Amino acid sequence: MDVLVSLCKRRGFIFQSSEIYGGTGSCWDYGPLGVELRNNLTRVWWRDFVQVRDDMVGLDASILMHPMVWKASGHTDKFTDPMVDCRECKLRFRADQVDEQPWTHYCPATKGNKFTIPAGEGCRHCGATRTLCPECGKGELTAPRQFNLMFKTFMGPVEEDATLTYLRPETAQGIFVNFDNVLQAMRLKLPFGIAQVGKAFRNEITPGNFIFRVRELEQMEIEYFVNPHDTVEGRPADEYWHQRWIDEYLAWFERYGMQRENLRLREHDKDELSHYSKRTVDIDYRFPMGWSELMGVANRTDYDLKQHAKFSGKSLTYFDEERKQHVVPYVIEPSVGVERPLLAFLADAYREEEVRGEKRVVLRFHRELAPIKIAVLPLLKKRGEIVSMAHDIRARLARNWRTVYDDTAAIGRLYRRQDEVGTPYCVTVDVKTVGDPDKGEAGDGQVTIRERDSMEQVRVPAAELESVFAMLLGETPWPEVAARYPRTA
Ligand code: GAP
Repeated sequence: MDVLVSLCKRRGFIFQSSEIYGGTGSCWDYGPLGVELRNNLTRVWWRDFVQVRDDMVGLDASILMHPMVWKASGHTDKFTDPMVDCRECKLRFRADQVDEQPWTHYCPATKGNKFTIPAGEGCRHCGATRTLCPECGKGELTAPRQFNLMFKTFMGPVEEDATLTYLRPETAQGIFVNFDNVLQAMRLKLPFGIAQVGKAFRNEITPGNFIFRVRELEQMEIEYFVNPHDTVEGRPADEYWHQRWIDEYLAWFERYGMQRENLRLREHDKDELSHYSKRTVDIDYRFPMGWSELMGVANRTDYDLKQHAKFSGKSLTYFDEERKQHVVPYVIEPSVGVERPLLAFLADAYREEEVRGEKRVVLRFHRELAPIKIAVLPLLKKRGEIVSMAHDIRARLARNWRTVYDDTAAIGRLYRRQDEVGTPYCVTVDVKTVGDPDKGEAGDGQVTIRERDSMEQVRVPAAELESVFAMLLGETPWPEVAARYPRTA
């Protein structure tokens, strides 16, 4: 993880929020490359799960909602974690995580020497087990208390109970309260889904592991409504669609670069299920700190629509033409943040390789996720014609793809820099491209394209670059395109 955090900072992906003031520890800022990666991730998600499907529509609900929404959804009463406080250093921990952490111990058998003892183990010298604060090792911990994770704020100029509201802790509720609006406006037939990408806020007690658990997050949520009376392929529609969404997401993560062996399913036990859930399956990823939840796919039944109907007094049903009756749809909810898949794609893409005796760091991003698609590099920055042609090529390609120009180092170094940020293709303009008028040599108008993973290079007429990259950054694999052009060393 440290290697990724350091790469992300050094190469402009992710910075600690408010770093010059010491940072916040739970919020992160996305730099020039991070914002491209993030935008690419949300864009492909939207394209694959909304744009190309005829059973999905989108929504963008507000972050601040009526406080009754959170009463109806159960968040006011149930969105809590048990927490304990250290009486000495005043730090706060999730009660269920205290024993999972290493602990600090001032050992009386060694004249009070300080030791960091692994989670769940006792002191080798005095035999003590952890009873005190895992951080300072001195303070007693308080008894667990429930702590609501919603951020409170006030709507309007007066700070009083009547104006109290919350920053939404999930985007899902914006979809449920708009169910009828969307249904009527779009004249939808079950099954259909409503998708939303947006910020959510959780006052996590123990944020951490880089961007894995943050207090300001973004979610990409789908609420997929099905008729509970229908069957599909012999199974109740909700159960069929639950499994179908799990399978679709596994395939999606693999399609954009996560390796199957780094993904696993984890079924929630009955006593672990949320109050609204009939069945929940997490898709876990093998993050650098170990297996952890990447996303959840829950069968929320008709709980949310019924709750909002009860609290608002408005009917939230669907008219089943076939059975001539109103039904409250069941909801399958595939819910994923932006930060966790982003971290997983980063971790899976990261490779350290040896090339001709030297270490090469490369991010093998899927081309659609790569922050920069093409880097245009002049072989000699002293030659005006080479530099000017490289600039022209960059400007041409940038109309369609994020393309950068770089001449700040020798070519080998420039390639390594682009490898390290995952740029799939470099275009090099050299002396042969432009020729040498002093020697009476004409240029051949061809440039070199280098592919990141294989490091193979081909010579391509500069005039064909748009059509070549339309193939390479579309669906045509490198070997197929490369086979049409002469190889070069
Ligand atoms: N609407 C259901 C819901 O919000 P959740 O399991 O609490 O369910 C869904 O969250 C997903 O949102 C998680 O699987 C994760 O991808 C992301 N997520 C939740 N809390 C997060 C946090 N504090 N930091 C980063 N991502 C988070």
